[in-house]
Amino acid sequence: MIVLKVDPLNPEINLIRRAAEVIKSGGLVAFPTETVYGLGGNALNPRAAEKVFKAKRRPMDNPLIVHIADLNQLEEVAANLSSEVMEFAQKVWPGPLTFVLKRNPKVPLETTGGLETVAVRMPAHPVALQLIRESEVPIAAPSANLATRPSPTLAEHVIQDLGEEVDVVLDGGETFFGVESTIINLTVSPPVLLRPGPFTVEELNNLIGEIVIPKQITEGGEFNVALAPGMKYKHYAPKKNLYLVQKKSMFKEVLHVLRERRRVAALCSQETCEDVPEPKIILGSNDNLYTVAKNLFKSFRQLDDLDVDMGVMEPFPEKGIGLAIMNRAKKASGFMIIRSIEEAREIAGN
Ligand code: TXA
Ligand code: MG
Repeated sequence: MIVLKVDPLNPEINLIRRAAEVIKSGGLVAFPTETVYGLGGNALNPRAAEKVFKAKRRPMDNPLIVHIADLNQLEEVAANLSSEVMEFAQKVWPGPLTFVLKRNPKVPLETTGGLETVAVRMPAHPVALQLIRESEVPIAAPSANLATRPSPTLAEHVIQDLGEEVDVVLDGGETFFGVESTIINLTVSPPVLLRPGPFTVEELNNLIGEIVIPKQITEGGEFNVALAPGMKYKHYAPKKNLYLVQKKSMFKEVLHVLRERRRVAALCSQETCEDVPEPKIILGSNDNLYTVAKNLFKSFRQLDDLDVDMGVMEPFPEKGIGLAIMNRAKKASGFMIIRSIEEAREIAGN
């Protein structure tokens, strides 16, 4: 594995070209996007796609997102494109929004996990865009973590998880948003939200009107596997139990009850954390939930490294980017939500 440090805003073209050569020859390159790091391979090469699955130890039926750098490339990977979809793409890309569309047969089934649909996005990150352009092919890239770990927001996370499985890591520092892109299925009408992300439901409603938000996004439970293949897999399993508190107002009391009998790390906003004793992981500010999104996955990794029995996390409002934060927190906790002080006592006693 080679690690190349690149300037995230003005990437050095010689470094990008070195990485692009690896993509062209069927190898794997980890690179920053505005959301999280991706593990990229040539999306049109079935062997490269297989390598991606193997490196991540990801089940072969959980498809990859195809990354493109301009709208002409959309026609190379998707089929039956309507003028509405093209106009919508023009408005929102580059950006943290992934479309599920009909697959162009040029994209092998290895990339789409056997599906006749394909997930596509144009990332808003200079390193990602330059890499795709210089590679001259669309790049299939899931998040560059092991299937059992949180998505990487720093190159160090990629190196920890994937090590020698990657040929080149483009280290462009910390990613901007910190949670993965919003995914919407555009093959159905009205469109269905498959994963909340930095491109908010409120923005989507303004642009395309009604979208369906399946209850699984907030309540958990099984998705129709054919429509949302990734959703049947637990996002990842933190080594430590993570509990989410249902109401902000209960957080400190729940923490206190748990700490009477357990070693508990508090995951909380700087405002709430202020008078909370260690161990604690500060997530960001209540006044700007984008700061919480940015630190979230790093915080889950920190929790695993602390000498504690469990973590307990403060909840955030499920609006705007808060919907994505809570969706990831619920998945990370396996939907273990503490709803009352009595429940906290029970957990502490077990
Ligand atoms: O922000 C992101 O989207 C990052 C960066 C690297 O771009 N990528 C990412 O990829 O999060 P990944 O593989 O970790 O998540 C892709 C999700 C999976 O849940 C997968 O099931 C879903 O997209 N997906 C891919 N193709 C699909 C399809 N044809 N239909 C429905 N869901 C699909
Ligand atoms: Mg992922």
